[in-house]
Amino acid sequence: ERKGRKKKVLLMGKSGSGKSSMRSIVFSNYVAKDTRRLGATIDVEHSHVRFLGNLTLNLWDCGGQDAFMENYLATQRDHIFRNVEVLIYVFDIESREFERDLITYSSCIEALRDNSSNARIFCLVHKMDLVQTELRERLFNERRDVLVSRSLGLAITCFQTSIWDETLYKAWAGIVYTLIPNLPQLETHLHRFASIADAEEVILFERTTFLVISHVTRSPIPNPFPDRFEKISNIVKQFKQSCSKMASNFTAFELRAAGFSAFIDVLTPNTYILVVMPAGAAESATTLMNIAVARKHFE
Ligand code: GTP
Ligand code: MG
Repeated sequence: ERKGRKKKVLLMGKSGSGKSSMRSIVFSNYVAKDTRRLGATIDVEHSHVRFLGNLTLNLWDCGGQDAFMENYLATQRDHIFRNVEVLIYVFDIESREFERDLITYSSCIEALRDNSSNARIFCLVHKMDLVQTELRERLFNERRDVLVSRSLGLAITCFQTSIWDETLYKAWAGIVYTLIPNLPQLETHLHRFASIADAEEVILFERTTFLVISHVTRSPIPNPFPDRFEKISNIVKQFKQSCSKMASNFTAFELRAAGFSAFIDVLTPNTYILVVMPAGAAESATTLMNIAVARKHFE
């Protein structure tokens, strides 16, 4: 049971596609511009990330230079591709050799199928910031169709990503969501909390990554702007980084606006909760109290 909670995640794709950049931003408190200093990854860099209390991600960031790739597919084949829960394969949208990238990708998919037949596969079409905004959707759809056709009939999920905006958080939250144990239980608690606090919306974030774990929206929101959860992840993450530069620690936050008020607070040792209350709702103290009471149910 304990062992089952350690999930092996392979991060692959050709050299320079942006694997270590994403990992450093999501899990190690880098901001996007810090990634310019990263050198090429030599062989495989392992990291263990304690996610929610009992979930540990065992990240294998596999350096993508040709010689390493050949090694993974030959000598180290079993070692690399065995017991994999998730493969994340990164494609640089600016790659001048997409066809060649696809051949390597197919070889990896084949090795994965032979060694970890139940692994989930995610393809990230990355560095989309380098594509003109109005061309992104079309280009992404084209790439996705090709990737699906090269995946040996296995199911894949594709995301378009960039380290320069919230798409990074959307993709990684989507991936990690599939790995979280006890989700139904967690979501029941979240629903109950939202209704007790009489909140409009409640969002649960993982503490270090600030990835969205789950959310409950109770009343229909008049003009919901798309990707608002991921935007919050991105903004709060940058805010936390500024706080840590000033040697202060971010713990809680309250925002009062015309139509609503919002509270971010620590919920459990591994989570933050964001509670959106309607305008003119109960006093802040009541909401904070509700959060305090909820803590023990989530721990
Ligand atoms: P290997 O370790 O050699 O396999 O490469 P890698 O996939 O780990 O690449 P790395 O993360 O080191 O990134 C290479 C370069 O791409 C860095 O200079 C990053 O700043 C840049 N980069 C990463 N993500 C993005 C992105 O979304 N957009 C843009 N424009 N550049 C990015
Ligand atoms: Mg790297």
